[in-house]
Amino acid sequence: MYEIEDIEKYRDKIDKKVYRFNLEAQEWILVNLKKGTVGGQHYHQGIARLKNPEITVFVSGKIEYTLKDLANNKIEKFIVDSPKIIKIYPNVFHELRAIEESFFLEPYDDESEKNDIIGEIVKLIKAIADDWRIISDLEKTSASKIFHPTVIEEEETRQFVNDNEVFLIDVDGKIIGIIAYQNKADQFYISEFIIGKEYQNKGCGKQALNLLLEKIGNSKSATLRTHPENTPAIITYLKAGFKIKGWKENCYGDGEPRLILIKGE
Ligand SMILES: CC(C)(COP(=O)(O)OP(=O)(O)OC[C@H]1O[C@@H](n2cnc3c(N)ncnc32)[C@H](O)[C@@H]1OP(=O)(O)O)[C@@H](O)C(=O)NCCC(=O)NCCS
Repeated sequence: MYEIEDIEKYRDKIDKKVYRFNLEAQEWILVNLKKGTVGGQHYHQGIARLKNPEITVFVSGKIEYTLKDLANNKIEKFIVDSPKIIKIYPNVFHELRAIEESFFLEPYDDESEKNDIIGEIVKLIKAIADDWRIISDLEKTSASKIFHPTVIEEEETRQFVNDNEVFLIDVDGKIIGIIAYQNKADQFYISEFIIGKEYQNKGCGKQALNLLLEKIGNSKSATLRTHPENTPAIITYLKAGFKIKGWKENCYGDGEPRLILIKGE
């Protein structure tokens, strides 16, 4: 998840210490966090070379780090005194709180600023019937040969929210998708899962599915259906531990087959 390294002392006298390090970067940013300020609150996807891992040359001050490994939701909290070099690996959400006024250097990476950085982590917010329009819009804009919308009209969408545990997927205060399940007698049925088109393939679906699986726990198996050509969905489910259990022709009356997937038994 992370590494903390001492910085080599080049000169170490009673009144003067000189540190030396060798890091690849042409441009640097110098960050100043006043005492009590919170920084970071993001993670990198590992696309930008200079952010894989993200390297911070912690020059002065004292910082409390809170890290969350998004692969397994493991959280670590620790305090670092300067000077140190801190390396944080991709897909680790990190928040920094300055216990003392702190200064640090980070390599500036243009690609990272544009494509690699994801601000907030994903949250699930329980939907209510009045959220029907946002749900219906996501359903409509996702419709395709491989994705049959469950609900579109107001009344059926309100009914869907009443009959299912529906969650809005929130990133940085913006609703980017929905995920829903039904708690059936013998298993959990994941009845809906959509990430809005412009937010797909950025790791949000994976996080949302993991949060839902955490919520439902593993007292019963979880099952769902997806189209056999829905590669992003199949990969997302298989990576979350689902296995292919069966095949159903004309599953939703749209003439298309569906794979039946299951996690736990
Ligand atoms: C299926 C869906 C929810 C996935 O959400 P997403 O946010 O795009 O997925 P993520 O970015 O979190 O990716 C999850 C995993 O699948 C992989 N993946 C996603 N899209 C992929 C693609 N097109 N090709 C290959 N792998 C893909 C990712 O690499 C990732 O694995 P990794 O992070 O371990 O490498 C989203 O594509 C979607 O809403 N599709 C339209 C609606 C739909 O089909 N829903 C499913 C109904 S059953």
